[in-house]
This record gives sequence, structure tokens and C-alpha cells, in this order.
Amino acid sequence: MAETEMKDSETRSSFMEDLKETLRRGATVDGYDYNVKKRYYEPAPEQTQGEAFTQVVESRRSVRKFTDKPIPRTVLDACIDLALIAPSSCNLQPWEFHVVQSPDKKAKLVEACMSQNAATTAAELIVVVARTNNWRKIAKLNIDQWPQPKIPKHWKDFYSKGVAFTYWQGPLHAVGYAKKALSNVAGLFRPMPRGPFTKSDMRVWAIKSTALAAENLMLAFRAHGFDSCPMEGMDEQRVRKLLKLPRDAEVVMVVGAGERAKDGVYFPRVKFDRENFVRYV
Ligand SMILES: Cc1cc2nc3c(=O)[nH]c(=O)nc-3n(C[C@H](O)[C@H](O)[C@H](O)COP(=O)(O)O)c2cc1C
Repeated sequence: MAETEMKDSETRSSFMEDLKETLRRGATVDGYDYNVKKRYYEPAPEQTQGEAFTQVVESRRSVRKFTDKPIPRTVLDACIDLALIAPSSCNLQPWEFHVVQSPDKKAKLVEACMSQNAATTAAELIVVVARTNNWRKIAKLNIDQWPQPKIPKHWKDFYSKGVAFTYWQGPLHAVGYAKKALSNVAGLFRPMPRGPFTKSDMRVWAIKSTALAAENLMLAFRAHGFDSCPMEGMDEQRVRKLLKLPRDAEVVMVVGAGERAKDGVYFPRVKFDRENFVRYV
């Protein structure tokens, strides 16, 4: 008995030594580098920008009247780039930004936005679109454009197989409904993902991430000295037609942007007590 225990303990210690040696050599397990010193890490920046951030967030208002000043292309592109680094579900970046600049299309877009002041006076009009069905393309980009020399196995597996398992709902969403039924049953016994399984789940899924990107865009304009107005008050069918959007595209909002006119903000900010919205549980 004592002899067996000794053998077990020897086996364990030689396994540990082997593992340590493997890690020392920087080898990988399952294609993933577990050697802490060699793993990618990104420490939190030492400087905090609380005050500047507060100023940007607090001074963002929905502006309904802009001056004639154009937004320089470099600023426009910098703001869009900041929108494009918003967080997104599974990094599948389901958003598109259609910057409508041709005078003819812009006139039609203004009309589709019910000729609201925020649209008629905007230097730029950006249609923010969510795509429910371009996850395959973006999954492939996640593999093809991995930014390090070696792509981790779990990353490659997820974007080549796991993503389809999660987001492919099959013809008429039949696969999605089957997944939903399975999830409902298994969910009685353990935590399970409850979607996205249906067409409307996919819309919510894509719009969630896209709305975050839209907010980044609006805050970016403010941080660069310009302003914006999100517009949902528009004729989505006309916007779709104008931009020849595919069937899986959802027009999330149109963002009008430009320099704030002195009388561009129509009302003081109307906000309510925190107790209406926040619960500490
Ligand atoms: C999704 C969404 C849609 C909106 N649609 C319109 C719109 O069509 N026209 C408009 O003038 N403002 C629109 N707004 C702006 C809101 O009216 C505004 O955000 C709200 O009154 C708070 O004011 P603030 O943005 O200045 O803080 C929209 C805002 C959001 C988030």
C-alpha cells in the first residue's frame, strides 16, 4: 500500500516537472501558450481620463441645428474608427456605417428622415446599419487577420465551427427552433444560453452591438469638437431602398453630425432620479 502511494506520488511529481519544463521552453498546450511570461497581456493604462471623459459624455447633446462648417475628412474617419472599436458580441462586429455624401442621395435621405432639422442642417449623415447575416464573413476575418504569428487553437476552432453552431439557424430558422427546444429542456437542469435562436433574436443580437458602436461614434464627434443627433424618426423602407441594403440589414439609426449651432440644442437635459433606473441587489 505504502509502495503504491510512493509510486503515485513519484508519477505526479515527474508529471509536474515535465509540465514545468514544457512551460519553461515556452511550448504550448493545445496550441495555446500557457507560459505566462509569453502570453499576450495588456496592462491597464496608468493614467485615468475620468474628468475628460465626463466632460465629453456630459456635453453630448442631441443637436437639431448645425452650422455650415464641414467636418474634415480626417476627423470624420477618426470618429468612425473609434466607433469600429466598440465591443461586439463574439467580436462579430455586425455593424455598417454608410456615410451618405452624394448630394442626390443626401437629399433623398433627408426626405426619408422626415426633413427633420437635424438632418437638413447636418454636415454629414451616417446611416448605422446592423447585419444579422454577415457573421460568417466576419468570423473568417477573425481567423485570417489574427494579429499574432500563431493563431490560438481555441480561437480558430471557435471562428471556424463554434460560431456556426451558435449563429446558424438553418432554413426558416428550423435549426434555431430545435436549439431553442433543447436549450429549454437542458436549461431546467443547468444554465444554458437562451439564444439567439429566432429571427427576432438575431435582430436584437446585431442591434445591441451596433448601438454601442453608434454611441462611440457620437461621443467621438463630441470629443473632436463636433456634435450629433441620433434619428430613429425616419422611413426605414426608403432608407433601405436608397442604400440598396440586403434583406438581413436593419437600419438602427441615422446619425446627423456637424458643428453645433448656437441655438442647436432645443431643451435643457431632462433626466430623472437614479432610483428610477438603478438597483443594487
Ligand atoms: C434611438 C434613438 C432615436 C432617436 N431619434 C430621434 C429623432 O428621430 N429625432 C430627434 O430629434 N431626436 C432623436 N433622438 C434623440 C433623443 O430625443 C434624445 O437623445 C433625448 O431626448 C435625450 O436628449 P439628449 O440626447 O440631448 O441628452 C433619438 C435618440 C435615440 C437614442
